[in-house]
Amino acid sequence: MEKIALTKKKQTKEDVLRQSLLKERGQIPAHVAIIMDGNGRWAKKQGRMRIQGHKAGVDSVRDTIEACAQLGVSHLTLYAFSTENWRRPKSEISALMKLLIQTLRKETLNLNKNDLKLHAIGELDRLPPVCLKELHEGIEMTRDNQRMVITLALSYSGRWDINNAVRDIGEKILNGKISLDDINDETIHAHLATHDMPDPDLLIRTGGDFRISNFLLWQCAYTEFFITQKFWPEFRRSDIYEAIETYQTRERRFGMISEQLYKKEKEKAAASV
Ligand code: FPP
Repeated sequence: MEKIALTKKKQTKEDVLRQSLLKERGQIPAHVAIIMDGNGRWAKKQGRMRIQGHKAGVDSVRDTIEACAQLGVSHLTLYAFSTENWRRPKSEISALMKLLIQTLRKETLNLNKNDLKLHAIGELDRLPPVCLKELHEGIEMTRDNQRMVITLALSYSGRWDINNAVRDIGEKILNGKISLDDINDETIHAHLATHDMPDPDLLIRTGGDFRISNFLLWQCAYTEFFITQKFWPEFRRSDIYEAIETYQTRERRFGMISEQLYKKEKEKAAASV
C-alpha cells in the first residue's frame, strides 16, 4: 500500500516501532471516534483568543488522520460541531465555519491523493451554504477512495440522529412498508446517520471531561472509552498510540463472561488452521 503523506512530517524511528508493535498485537480498532475538546481552554491558557485554539486544533486533526490511516483504522469519526454548539456566541460560530471552509479548501486534494474518503453526518442543511458546498465537493471528489473514511460530525447530536431514525421507522410503519415486529437493533442501525459504518470500537475524548456530550449515543453501547486530560490542540499521534495501546488491554465481553471469550477465540484459531 502507498505510504500516506498528509502532514509534511517524516515518520520517526519511534513512530515506525510503535506502529508495528500495535499492529503485531493485531487488534487495531476498525472505528475510532473522537470528541475533540479543550480548544478554548488551551487558547485561554496561552492568553490567546478561543479561535486560535480551534485553528491549532486543525494540526491535531491532520496528525490524527495520518496516524490512524497508517495503523489501518478504517473509520475515523470527528465530532467537529454539535447541535448544541449553535448556542455559542455568533462570532465564534462564524469563525469556526470560516475555519472549516478554509480547511476543506486546503485539505481536500490532499485527502484525495492519499486515498482518504470524506464523509459527513448531521443536520448539514443548517451549515452556511459555502461550507455545505465545500463539504459536498470534498465528499464527491473522494467518494471512491478506500483507505479510510473520515466522517465529520457537523451540526450533529446523538438525539437528533435517534429522533430521525424513530420518525423514519414510524413513517414506514404507517405506510405499511414494515411492521412493529420488524423493529430490532439492525432496523434501528439501518436508519441512523451511521448506517454505513460499524459502531465505534474506541471513543477518545480530550480535555478531561467524563461525558458523552450527545455524541454517538446508540452507537457507543459497547465502545471502549479513552479520556485524556490533554487539550485537543496538544493531541498528537503519540496520544493515538497510547489510546490504542490501552484499548488493546481491554477485555470486550459484550455482556458475556471471560471463559466464553476464550472458548470463542480457541474455536476461531482452530478453524483457521
Ligand atoms: C471543542 O472545544 C471543539 C469544537 C467545538 C470545535 C472543533 C473544531 C476543530 C478541532 C477545528 C476544525 C476541525 C476540522 C474537522 C477542520 P471547545 O471550544 O469546547 O473547548 P473548551 O471546552 O476548552 O471551551
